[in-house]
This record gives sequence, C-alpha cells and structure tokens, in this order.
Amino acid sequence: MNAQRVRVKSSAGDYSVYVGEKILPQGLQSHLPAKVPVAMLVDEGIAALPLTLAIFAWLEKRASRVVRVRIPAGERSKSVEEYGRVVRQLAGAGLTRDGWIVAVGGGVTGDLAGFVAATYLRGLPVIQIPTTVVSMVDSSVGGKTGIDLPEGKNLVGAFHPPKAVLADLRWLDSLPLAEKRAGMAEVLKYGAIADSKLFGSLAKGPPRSMKKVVKRCVEIKAKLAGEDERDLKGKRALLNFGHTVAHGLEGIVGYEGLRHGEAVAIGMVVAAHLSVKARRFKKKAAEKLKAAIRAHGLPVTHPELRWDRLSPVMARDKKATTQGIRWVLLKKIGKADLVTGVTEKKIQLALEEVREGKLPKG
Ligand SMILES: NC(=O)c1ccc[n+]([C@@H]2O[C@H](COP(=O)([O-])OP(=O)(O)OC[C@H]3O[C@@H](n4cnc5c(N)ncnc54)[C@H](O)[C@@H]3O)[C@@H](O)[C@H]2O)c1
Repeated sequence: MNAQRVRVKSSAGDYSVYVGEKILPQGLQSHLPAKVPVAMLVDEGIAALPLTLAIFAWLEKRASRVVRVRIPAGERSKSVEEYGRVVRQLAGAGLTRDGWIVAVGGGVTGDLAGFVAATYLRGLPVIQIPTTVVSMVDSSVGGKTGIDLPEGKNLVGAFHPPKAVLADLRWLDSLPLAEKRAGMAEVLKYGAIADSKLFGSLAKGPPRSMKKVVKRCVEIKAKLAGEDERDLKGKRALLNFGHTVAHGLEGIVGYEGLRHGEAVAIGMVVAAHLSVKARRFKKKAAEKLKAAIRAHGLPVTHPELRWDRLSPVMARDKKATTQGIRWVLLKKIGKADLVTGVTEKKIQLALEEVREGKLPKG
C-alpha cells in the first residue's frame, strides 16, 4: 500500500491514519476482520462513485454480510432524526454485537456514523474512510463524534476513536471546488495555530499535491488529540481557532447556509482581529492571514457578524464554560493560546471591523 502513516494515541487503543493514493479498498484488509457483519454508512452523494462501489464489492466478499445505509448529503443529516433512522435501520437489519461500522463520506457522515458506532449496542468498532478535505485533515481523526441539535452544533456526541482511518486522495478528484476550498480553511487553521512553514507554503493558494499537506495536518491533529484526548487540558481546544464565530454563524444562517470551512475562514479573520486587539498579534500578520484565506477563494467577511445576533448562539457553544467563551487567539503565525476574559467591547469591535472589511486596529 503506497501510503504515509500517522499513529494516533488513544486510551481506547492507538490507531493509524493512512494517507495516499490507491489505498482502497485493499487497505481495509489489515483492519477489518474477515466474516464479521458490516454496516457501511455512506454519503448518498457519493454512493454511485466507482470507488464507493469497489469498497462495497470488496466488503461483500470479506464480510459475513453487508448492510448498506445511505446518509443524505448535508449537515441536516447530523440530526437526532437521522440518527434515529440509522440505528433503527441497523436494528431492523439485525446487526449484531460482532458487527463493524465502515463510514464512507465527509465530516457529516463520519460524525454521524461515529456516533452511531459509539452508541448502537453500546458501541461497535468503526473504520473511517474520509472523502473530503475537511474529513481527511480533521474530522475522521481524534475520535470526536456527534450530531447537532436545533439549539446548537455538535451538542450531542461521544468520544469514539476509530480502529483505522484510510484517506485515499483519489476521492478529491470528484470533490467540488467549493468543498475543496472549504477544506483548505481547516488546513490554513493548522498552519496558523501550529506550523508557520505549512502556512507559508499555502499563503499564495492551493498546493500542487495534497499528500504532504494532508499528512502534516493529520500529524498536528494526532499530536494535539493524543496529548489531550478528552479536550480537558486546553491543547486540543487550539483546534477550535476560528470555530467560536464559525459555529455562531452556522447557527444563525442555518447549517445549510454556509459550508463549515467557509464559516471557519470568516471565524479565523475575526479571531485574528481579536488577537490584534488583545495586543498579542501583529496587524501585518493578521493581514497576511486574511490574504491567504482570500488566495484560497474563501470568504473573509459576512453581514451577520453582529454581536446581538451571534452572542446568544456563541454562549450555547459547547466550548463555552461558566467563565464565558474561551477564545483561541494567535501570538504569531504558528502559535496560538487559549484565552478567557476577552471583553465584550473588543469582540464587538472585531466583529464590526471584519463585517465592514476594515483593517484591524490595536
Ligand atoms: N469530529 C470532528 O472532530 C470534526 C472536525 C471538523 C469538522 N467536523 C464536522 O464535519 C462536517 C463537515 O464535513 P465536510 O466538510 O466533509 O462536509 P460534508 O460531509 O457535508 O461533505 C460535503 C459535501 O461533499 C460531498 N462529497 C463528499 N465526498 C465527496 C467526494 N469525494 N466527491 C464528491 N462529493 C463529495 C457530500 O455529499 C457533501 O455534499 C461538519 O458537520 C463539522 O462539524 C467534525
């Protein structure tokens, strides 16, 4: 198998993430036991792709039986209703305790399938097959699974690390440009919080090859998630750079109104302005971050960046504690910290600057 491998530490058992081309379906061989029942949860939008069909055909030969469950494309599938439909389908099909879940899709399918795997029959093993940039570099790694509520994003979930992650870059050939771009927002995030070299290599636009980029992002995620599996030590929380405002925006415009990565792009710009206001981050560096986001065709502003609109949603965000919102702010490109006690005034000003396309003021 021509793949790069990254190990992820987990209390539930360490696992590997493979990144490469042509690693599916045969890459499943070393991770999925023979003759077990398998539920393949697949994003409906990619159900007919040749690679999906090849995985299904391979599973049909390897497994004792395969239950195929199609997940409608889009964030709306990360819902209590869809979760109920899927677990009932598995129960109806008689999937037993020796069963395995194979998740094929982007972050939506991966998060939902992971949560199904965490809870159905009190937990079945799951293999993640991410098919988008976001899911390859982020959501399939680290064991966070979950669904949304009308009250907020990812409010119900479980830590349920996969047995393996197989990221075959051929999926990206069919991924629409807008989805690729949205994924690059998460990639830029990794550069901004942890790797100035990665950031520098992407400052002018998309890379020629994604293999190294995906691997580097997975390494960063593996390190932070490995050191702080349950998100209690403030290390893993750094991955939320740009996400406080992003989740707020997604809550306001509806989960379908903005792609997650687009919301993260805007959220990163606000967090950069806030970092300048907190006198931690240079104005020039904030401008550099904004320029890089633009170079990837991503948005850097939004008309809904208003405190009165965002604050009720952000307060419900699962990252908020009784001390208020914990912000991930930058010290420089490649170095971030968790900060509490940011004043409402500063947040309001940062939102206003970004909404009106102004330069950050200290
Ligand atoms: N668990 C985590 O740690 C974590 C981290 C980051 C993001 N997330 C979650 O991930 C979700 C976003 O994931 P996403 O950006 O992958 O979106 P997504 O899963 O909605 O996929 C985006 C779109 O691309 C389509 N698609 C998927 N793979 C394709 C392919 N290979 N070719 C063509 N089309 C394809 C899908 O049908 C969908 O329409 C959000 O719900 C977010 O909260 C979770």
